Amino acid sequence: MNPSRPPLVAGNWKMHPASVELAVSLAVNVRDAVAGLAARSVVCPPTIWLSTVAAAIGGGSTEPGRLAIGAQTVHAEEAGPYTGETSPLMVAEVAQYVILGHSERRQNDNETDAAVATKVASAVVHRLVPIAAIGERADERRAGLTATVIERQLRAAISRLPRIAGSGLVVAYEPVWAIGTGDAASGEDAQAAAAQIRSILAESDPGGAAEVAILYGGSCTPDNAAEFFAEPDVDGALVGGASLDAASFAQIVQLAVEARG
Ligand code: PGA
Repeated sequence: MNPSRPPLVAGNWKMHPASVELAVSLAVNVRDAVAGLAARSVVCPPTIWLSTVAAAIGGGSTEPGRLAIGAQTVHAEEAGPYTGETSPLMVAEVAQYVILGHSERRQNDNETDAAVATKVASAVVHRLVPIAAIGERADERRAGLTATVIERQLRAAISRLPRIAGSGLVVAYEPVWAIGTGDAASGEDAQAAAAQIRSILAESDPGGAAEVAILYGGSCTPDNAAEFFAEPDVDGALVGGASLDAASFAQIVQLAVEARG
């Protein structure tokens, strides 16, 4: 972790927990547990509970030591005939971040590189911080294509951004084979990916690249998080399963703060 970039830990709740009451109590517990920690903390509840959760924590904030709210996806258009979708204008009323291009959406919802590019640009226009998720599948890794996939997905994700500096862009490296499997990548793998990501960003904008928080995601827990945070280009984590427990999530945030020194 580089001391010039504040750590960022985001919790991707996916389609959990089981009720709005549980979502509210999880968010309130996370808010209280991360209060005052020198990191940016974000929870990303299901869309239907974004406003309830935001209200319950007193509105999200991007300030370190406070809890921010993120959506798990958003549509690129502000309004129109898009049944079932949520506009970035609507999301920006209650959230500060949005995860885009998560591998589960790429796989299950046919989210293409081109769609991710449009959404990343739209999120920035609507003052949502995009957490662009990229990463290779197990078969791609076996075929030695990790760096190729990272490069293709990253170049696409930023292709419609006028500039990196000031965009707030966050990139999450999430190898698909590590998500929800308990088989996390090594710190070394995460660093190799994060360094590649930063050098691609630096090609067009060296100053902007230094600002970007690069997260590791995939079976990140309080037991392994420190290994990732010890790496110079890893600035935090995108956490799935372990984010559903307030104490575990807060422990990961604490480890990020400690790693920054
Ligand atoms: P996991 O999920 O931590 O449960 O592996 C990470 C993610 O999908 O963002």
